[in-house]
Amino acid sequence: MSIHDELARLEELRRESEQGGGADRLAAQHERGKLSARERLDLLLDEGSFVEFDRFVTHRSTDFGLADRKVLGDGVVTGYGTIHGRLVYVFSQDFTVFGGSLSEAHAEKIVKLQDMALKNGAPLIGLNDSGGARIQEGVVSLGGYADIFLRNTLASGVVPQISLVLGPCAGGAVYSPAITDFVYMVRGTSYMFVTGPDVVKTVTHEDIDMEGLGGADVHASKSGVAHFAADSEPDCLASVRDLFRFIPQNNRSLPPAGGDADPHDRQDEALLDIVPDNPNHPYDMHDVIRRVVDDGEFYEVHERFAQNLIVGFAHLGGHSVGVVANQPAVLAGVLDIDSSVKGARFVRFCDAFNIPLVVLEDVPGFLPGVSQEHRGIIRHGAKLLYAFAEATVPKVTVITRKAYGGAYDVMNSKHIRGDVNLAWPQAEIAVMGPKGAVEVLFKKEIAAADDPKAATDERIEEYRSKFANPYIAAARGYVDDIIDPRQTRPRLISALDMLRDKRDGNPARKHGNLPL
Ligand code: HXC
Repeated sequence: MSIHDELARLEELRRESEQGGGADRLAAQHERGKLSARERLDLLLDEGSFVEFDRFVTHRSTDFGLADRKVLGDGVVTGYGTIHGRLVYVFSQDFTVFGGSLSEAHAEKIVKLQDMALKNGAPLIGLNDSGGARIQEGVVSLGGYADIFLRNTLASGVVPQISLVLGPCAGGAVYSPAITDFVYMVRGTSYMFVTGPDVVKTVTHEDIDMEGLGGADVHASKSGVAHFAADSEPDCLASVRDLFRFIPQNNRSLPPAGGDADPHDRQDEALLDIVPDNPNHPYDMHDVIRRVVDDGEFYEVHERFAQNLIVGFAHLGGHSVGVVANQPAVLAGVLDIDSSVKGARFVRFCDAFNIPLVVLEDVPGFLPGVSQEHRGIIRHGAKLLYAFAEATVPKVTVITRKAYGGAYDVMNSKHIRGDVNLAWPQAEIAVMGPKGAVEVLFKKEIAAADDPKAATDERIEEYRSKFANPYIAAARGYVDDIIDPRQTRPRLISALDMLRDKRDGNPARKHGNLPL
């Protein structure tokens, strides 16, 4: 055959490989409100940047009539491209081919990509739409999953790994996303469960549909498995592109700088009045965050899970930062099990990827209660403490109001290597809140008083003026300065500039033993 004939044949095969499971299955995919594997790549990556690998790979099964059903690419499109001009590796499962299920060959394509991402220091993005292990291949597909899990684990903390769940992901299809750094889901079309509603019904007799068991809202607000839930696939893919404004290529590179349109010395008058005069009244910490960061832009992570702690990315004076903030508007900002786990995972991501931490603190303590104690608040709270203590990136804290009890220590105090800690004048830093303290210290006196309420109030006032302020901590140097709230932005930027070349480390060891 001449080269021209060869090229024509090649072109034909290329076109065939782009047909996936055929027009009918593609139409069914669209009818469900889902895009095809390739349409998703078009929206995720910079236009025309995708370069495909392994489009000629097919499965090797011979059982159940599969010998005659080979589809080029075997249900997953793999390759590399760019987002905002930056290299990423990406795989996109094609549900129209054997339900996106994972065969030996399908797994090998993903593994090849994982190895390249690790070797070349670039993020890996997985677009998951899969019925799990390909049933016809038995243990070989289980092995394929394990090969992927291993590489997910080895790449953890080396290159960012991002998972989009864009279909009914069951069985093994959920565990790779679970190891990765961020999981995105889409309402109404994506599901994650170890076993689906039918199995649940058989085993536990619980009646539940796919959405209720493992839909986007469930995972984004209850289980915390998903960090983001979008209303549509295009929104979801756009959101992933947005994430790349904040995260670096790998653990040895720096995160991307933001623009410099927002003046570094901008002061915000409204910060003066954000904290209510009554220390028991709530306010929304989002207001503080948006008034302080560059252009008011905050990329919130886990927005609907454990809302008593806010985490997310922003730029501050051009520095990409991870913000961790107590939220007085939800549960008074207490730390509980879910918020501790949420915060710990975020802090560890930032630390692994050289993203400085900015902490806004208003925390009355850990949540008391039988349920929290029995479910292990000690073990889970320790995760957040551990994460902040081991982090070596620049770490800056602003105490806006309460910093009580163990939560004072946990929320990036100087004692656990916080670099710069600032407090607003209204800050209350003490072992416990005035009411609780007075009830412990003056229990007998109050019981014997003619007017117990007046006696309590008097002691509360005394305690408040003595302990519930930032000056004792500042006198010890535990707080570096007490600042005018309006100066929060310039002071944070100054601290981040000062810490730009920070070098710190941890003792040599195989790995720490995070209290899991
Ligand atoms: C082979 C599969 C498949 C699978 C789906 N298909 N899952 N083929 N192996 N695991 C095929 C179907 O036969 C069908 O082929 C096509 O994909 C579409 O599937 P439908 O069932 O028609 O689609 P839908 O009604 O949308 O249901 C999607 C689904 C369901 C919920 C994912 O297919 C399903 O429950 N699949 C099995 C899920 C599962 O239990 N997987 C194994 C998990 S165990 P045709 O030719 O008709 O288009 C596992 C172990 C790993 O993964 C553990 C590691 C820790």
